[in-house]
Amino acid sequence: MESVEARIEQALRGVIDPELGADIVDLGMVKRVEVDDGTATIGVALTIAACPLRDQIEQDVKRKVLALPEIREVLVQVTAMTSDEKAEIMSKARWKAREDAEPTMIHPSTRVIAISSGKGGVGKSSTSVNLAVALAQRGLRVGLLDADIWGFSVPRMLGIGSVRLEANDDAQIVPVQAHGLDVVSTGLLIDDEDKALMWRGLMLSKALEQFLTDVAWQTLDYLVIDMPPGTGDIQMALSRLLPQAEMVVVTTPQRAAQKVASRVADMARRSFMPVIGVLENMSGFTTEDGRHYKLFGEGGGQELADDLGVPLVGQIPLDPFIVEAGDSGVPLVISHPDSPAAAALVNVAKRLVELIPPAEDETCTARIDRLIEGLQRISS
Ligand SMILES: Nc1ncnc2c1ncn2[C@@H]1O[C@H](COP(=O)(O)OP(=O)(O)OP(=O)(O)O)[C@@H](O)[C@H]1O
Ligand SMILES: [Mg+2]
Repeated sequence: MESVEARIEQALRGVIDPELGADIVDLGMVKRVEVDDGTATIGVALTIAACPLRDQIEQDVKRKVLALPEIREVLVQVTAMTSDEKAEIMSKARWKAREDAEPTMIHPSTRVIAISSGKGGVGKSSTSVNLAVALAQRGLRVGLLDADIWGFSVPRMLGIGSVRLEANDDAQIVPVQAHGLDVVSTGLLIDDEDKALMWRGLMLSKALEQFLTDVAWQTLDYLVIDMPPGTGDIQMALSRLLPQAEMVVVTTPQRAAQKVASRVADMARRSFMPVIGVLENMSGFTTEDGRHYKLFGEGGGQELADDLGVPLVGQIPLDPFIVEAGDSGVPLVISHPDSPAAAALVNVAKRLVELIPPAEDETCTARIDRLIEGLQRISS
């Protein structure tokens, strides 16, 4: 068994300095790792003393290290680099960028949210689709990757079931545009038996890898991944390919379902994927005359969130329009924005942006420029 310090270092490799596009361990920004009775003290030297980046890196360090079972508390000591240190790190970052020439097409600063659960049918796909759209409605650049290679449902839910992915001149797959999202799914590839057979011959993790390396993804703020039911290879593959990936665990209010969901959380720990929060779906049903029925029990989401020490990011009520929206190809947050379920989903998206804000992949000045540009576009 590796020492806890070694595993902390491993976990810290999942923290990317968005400006430099490499992980903070490789960049030599981690100056100290100490563990005393469940409390980890991490010293990080940053290139920037202010700017929102600082908070972001600090929060990322905390979340990644807290994902280790033996760590209960994380103290982050942030120091600023000297100008010599800065110069050295910049050249290291450039060297790194060449060395790692495109491990995947996902920009290192993209926030990756894997919507997971321990069992099938709890609403991963419905929530993935609606959360992705709700994030895009906030003006963010959002991709949706359907990692449910055999059981894909994203194309139908977005009304693009008959659309097919095409390749660009560089033989890369171009994502399909739907409801403001860049979408990739095996459901958009398979149109004849031969192709279906070809995909069946691939391992699931291999298929995921292809979707990350052979797709011409634009620079995204968020990549939402609709995970297949259950735990296993695909989670491991994801964390290997995208060290910045984090999970939202979807569960029902039923308490008996907790064992399954906590298995996912275990998987998250082993693959260094932190859990951002728990999302409870199918949380009761309110009739038109206001009567409330707790059809699938109550308290399961909060209980799991407490167990994992993460926030409950929302409770989505049962809503027959979710089923209808899924079949009609227009997500609920667009078709019925005033419904309680849509409002709850929009709120979860807001919560996620607070918990893992879009990476500041530019300097503060460039960001202000982009804002001004956006305002000019709106006013013209
Ligand atoms: N809040 C909700 N209210 C009503 N129906 C819902 C709700 N959430 C999901 N559903 C319905 O439940 C079914 C399962 O949902 P969904 O396909 O999103 O689950 P999943 O976890 O992705 O399933 P799988 O594990 O098979 O991929 C769908 O028919 C969907 O329309
Ligand atoms: Mg699904």
